[in-house]
Amino acid sequence: MCGIVGVLGDHEAAPLLVEALKRLEYRGYDSAGIATVHKGKLDRRRAVGKLVNLSDLLVHEPLAGKSGIGHTRWATHGAATVTNAHPHRAGGVAVVHNGIIENFRDLRAELATDGYAQESETDTETVALLARRELDRGATPVEAARATLKRLHGAFALCFLFDGEEDLMIAARKGSPLAIGHGTGEMFVGSDAIALAPMTDRITYLEEGDWAVITRAGAQIFDAADRLANRAETRIQIDATRIEKAGYKHFMAKEIAEQPVVIAEALKHYTTPDGQLNLPEGIDFTGVDRITLVACGTASYAAHIAKYWFEQIAGLPAEIDIASEFRYREPPLSPHSWALFVSQSGETADTLAALRYARDKVARVLSVVNVPTSSIARESDLALPIMAGVEVGVASTKAFTCQLVTLALLALKAAVDRGRLTPEALARHVADLNALPGLMNHTLSLSPRIAAIAEDLARAQDVLFLGRGTMYPLALEGALKLKEISYIHAEGYASGELKHGPIALIDAAVPVIVLAPKDALFDKTVSNMQEVMARHGRVLLISDAKGIAEAGQGAWQTITLPEVSSAFAPILYAVPAQLLAYHTAIAKGTDVDQPRNLAKSVTVE
Ligand code: AGP
Repeated sequence: MCGIVGVLGDHEAAPLLVEALKRLEYRGYDSAGIATVHKGKLDRRRAVGKLVNLSDLLVHEPLAGKSGIGHTRWATHGAATVTNAHPHRAGGVAVVHNGIIENFRDLRAELATDGYAQESETDTETVALLARRELDRGATPVEAARATLKRLHGAFALCFLFDGEEDLMIAARKGSPLAIGHGTGEMFVGSDAIALAPMTDRITYLEEGDWAVITRAGAQIFDAADRLANRAETRIQIDATRIEKAGYKHFMAKEIAEQPVVIAEALKHYTTPDGQLNLPEGIDFTGVDRITLVACGTASYAAHIAKYWFEQIAGLPAEIDIASEFRYREPPLSPHSWALFVSQSGETADTLAALRYARDKVARVLSVVNVPTSSIARESDLALPIMAGVEVGVASTKAFTCQLVTLALLALKAAVDRGRLTPEALARHVADLNALPGLMNHTLSLSPRIAAIAEDLARAQDVLFLGRGTMYPLALEGALKLKEISYIHAEGYASGELKHGPIALIDAAVPVIVLAPKDALFDKTVSNMQEVMARHGRVLLISDAKGIAEAGQGAWQTITLPEVSSAFAPILYAVPAQLLAYHTAIAKGTDVDQPRNLAKSVTVE
């Protein structure tokens, strides 16, 4: 997590650094800070909490200088205090860091014996102190940074700035992404290209182990063995304008509302007008014996839903795992299998590590990402963008439904390649998917009714979500959405698991949200729902008109959705789950777009 930025500019650096940090705030918002070199002197400003606090501080205590580095923090080592905020400074060197220095305790002890004491509780200050010790021993800034980097274990993206050096930054990448931006007589560094978009569209991505000596004249990039490395410069297409709420109160509300448009966009991109598939060249499931889907959080629930599609529609064995378990479990993988990684950001550390684990063990590595320039996309054999557009809200909404649409189309392709679907049957499935934007629009119009229910839900301490089949992973997603933004404890269960334990939780105070379209599993789910009602549980049934007519009686509340193809129902049923979480958070007055303790992109394991 954490976002870092660096500028060697020909204008004042502070406003550019703050603007870039705004674009990186999705990576964390525990504190923010910048450092500049002005008239040869390093100086810095740091503030706890969101970036706006740093901006306020800079009004009263401006920072001059055309060279600078900046940081927005998601705390890993040490609480969110000014002392722990970046940039960290030791004598004539300042450092910003994203990642974790795993051997910092040993290094800190070693530095202490040499008289270099640490002020903060962070792992990053150790980096600054190591560089300072090198400078004190007579090293040049470049030598000091190079020697420091050799001592570090763990994952990092780093940027160094030095006293007396107004035309020098040193950047390094190991495990955490870092991009160098090229201007005209100006150079930039950022955790991602989006941060640099207002300044430049000419980007060079550092590769694993790379470090770079950057001056206004350009960047010299060295690989892990200190050999001069030629890394390509690419032009990226990112809208440089600030991402706006467009009249919505929150990004999350805007992103929920955008879903009909963005999933229609994804469908248009990946299908033909006559209902056939238009996926990129090279996706042929013939001879593939298994697909392993790996992801974290919401993306893992999208993968979990896709497992049902790969198995039921394509008859292809599918395994799913969360990346943090997969990477250390060291699962055996068939050389005839494919591995598929799902990630909105494309930078999630565990998912990236899982990809690297699988890379030389499987026949093909695919990814389904929202950021096509991300590390996961770049390290895959083939990356499928989900076309959701920038997602700002920490709670993932439109990325989830766009992931589902893309995964559904991949499962259909697998079914075609495996001889399980005729062109006519495929066209019927594609028509079902094409119906979703219209059905979603209708569902979005239920927002006021869902807001009224949320007023009550906001008083609950615990909430359960139940579902069967694809509604089971959606129950997990509904619970995650609710807990992450409303801070209400929520759990998702497979309906059939209820009486194996969780039913003990049921009483009149625990709302139970049942996701049950009128499909082949409806009666089974309704039986479980009756078991809840028999124990005075308060049921909110989300179903279609037929389902509500048949089973809605006795429920505490009902939400009636339009009828939808049972295969792709989770794409539609995601919307009321998102709206429930959103309105509950509003009723509780929590920070919807930037909930406590979270960050949009989880770049540490
Ligand atoms: C979802 O609302 C989350 N905040 C979180 O679970 C997220 O889906 C997860 O961290 C994975 O992120 P990614 O899709 O960028 O890899």
